[in-house]
Amino acid sequence: MLLLRRCHRLTPFGPLSVQRYQVAPVVASCTVRLSSSSNEQRFHQHGFSWTRALAGILAGTGVVLAYGLRHHKAEQADVRDQTVQMRSSLPVISQAEVAKHRSLKDGVWVTYKGGVYNITEFVAMHPGGDKIMLAAGGALEPFWALYAVHNQDHVLEILSLYKIGELSAEDLKKQRDVKSSDPYSSDPERHPVLRPNSLKPFTAEPPPEILSDSYITPSVFFFKRNHLPVPQVDPASYRLHVEGLPGGVLTLSLGDLKTRFPKHTVTATLQCAGNRRSEMNKVRQVKGLNWGIAAIGNATWSGAKLRDVLLAAGYGPDVTQWARHVQFEGLDKDITGTAYGASIPIGKAVSEDGDVLLAYEMNGEDIPADHGFPVRVVVPGIVGARNVKWLGKITVSAEESSSHWQQNDYKGFSPGTDWDTVDYKSAPAIQELPVQSAITTPAEGTVIDRSAEMLTVKGYAWSGGGREVIRVDVSLDGGKTWQVAQLKSSDKEEDPQTPPPLGRAWAWKLWEITVPLPPEAQELEIICKAVDNSYNMQPDTFAPIWNLRGVLSNAWHRVKVKISEDNGEE
Ligand code: MTE
Repeated sequence: MLLLRRCHRLTPFGPLSVQRYQVAPVVASCTVRLSSSSNEQRFHQHGFSWTRALAGILAGTGVVLAYGLRHHKAEQADVRDQTVQMRSSLPVISQAEVAKHRSLKDGVWVTYKGGVYNITEFVAMHPGGDKIMLAAGGALEPFWALYAVHNQDHVLEILSLYKIGELSAEDLKKQRDVKSSDPYSSDPERHPVLRPNSLKPFTAEPPPEILSDSYITPSVFFFKRNHLPVPQVDPASYRLHVEGLPGGVLTLSLGDLKTRFPKHTVTATLQCAGNRRSEMNKVRQVKGLNWGIAAIGNATWSGAKLRDVLLAAGYGPDVTQWARHVQFEGLDKDITGTAYGASIPIGKAVSEDGDVLLAYEMNGEDIPADHGFPVRVVVPGIVGARNVKWLGKITVSAEESSSHWQQNDYKGFSPGTDWDTVDYKSAPAIQELPVQSAITTPAEGTVIDRSAEMLTVKGYAWSGGGREVIRVDVSLDGGKTWQVAQLKSSDKEEDPQTPPPLGRAWAWKLWEITVPLPPEAQELEIICKAVDNSYNMQPDTFAPIWNLRGVLSNAWHRVKVKISEDNGEE
């Protein structure tokens, strides 16, 4: 299949080895014709450094840029032998002139560190570039302070390909005089054992073995997934607004939530849609944070039931006629004032058995800043993305949340869908997650001493939608033979294993199995797979479930270990 793309402006670029490219605004009209296979080949040849570096890119602007950059990189290979113009030859452009270019029609210009860039072609190449358009006609710096992951050499290198001029000295001085501040400067301290995937915004997971050491994941080690700076919320002046119901707006203080509604405690597992994305990446590069197996945790959450609050705000039989969704908005906002947002189906929100909480405690203490202080929604059985932190507003609506994270991100697509063909509207937003399990110990590459004779394998297993994990199968020989692991629903020695009510199994099961080391083997491929009470099982490989964002990554987890004959004696 041929991919035809018409470009209205051809800029000559320098060879790839040149550090900074200077671009003359040469105008031409052309048609770039690339076969999809050669495009893909170029992507692999030249894409490694940026795909690796972009692995931490965020949703929103990050996805938009990643999409565009991939295409641009292919084009870069086409034109790299062309002329390079030196900086001195570039025209000096005023900020007033830059500000006139804020649309595809007039061109999209931005400034960065004194350079002026015409990114019209870049913006035209990706769907839904509304976020990047926010920077049009002005400086990129404030956006990259927020989406700091873009501020990397290779991204700057690619940006430089669009350079058309130098900002006038006067305007540059004005820009520098504007005091810049780091929006992440008041983010909380984090435990150094956490393994960050990105620092600004902060996203991190614990070492996997910590997960199976405790049925309840200590908050400090619980994975953290922020899209924006952590907002500073004063509990005394905190207000939650509940809108969209016949009673008008209900405004609640933290004290109201604690005293006007019964307190409920639910033990629930929270898993990021991108957990285990790094394994899907091995099939074919996806875009998103390169999560290992620990973007998941299990905590006790306490707070008011969302159902009780909605009833107090006027939810009743009339509302069921038209209401379909409950939308949530966080107090974390991007530079344009857009808050993180998500929604869940109304049925889940108002069901007595849905156990949706407006939680103000995590593991028996105030919710920590990173996890949503003072109030977050906890939607048991539902993907992490809908568990909105720093909750500011709840809206009952006929519509889903219009947020980027509901409409475009956190959706699953066919392995045959790629960035060229994706139609976000064609897929529903992820809500319940599929059955999942992973081996937390031993770690990949561990060398086991033969003299140990026995091997203990540990891990976690969980399924979305309240489906209970009923079995975990473990293989030591790459899936030829299997044994059933022991499931644990608490840390107690005498685990009573009282089954949760049907459809309300919100918490994970830890599992463990101790087996003799196979006498002949020098290497083991350990595999785990879980089964839930609907007899859903994990797929054996990633290729058939590959999707461009690397979500819902739940194939069998495989760990290879070596057996050493050396018993340690000198
Ligand atoms: N809520 C707000 N307000 N802002 C966010 O960035 N991230 C979401 C969700 N709720 C997010 C949010 C995502 S994608 C996940 S996976 C979970 O929070 C992570 O929760 P945690 O950081 O408490 O583990």
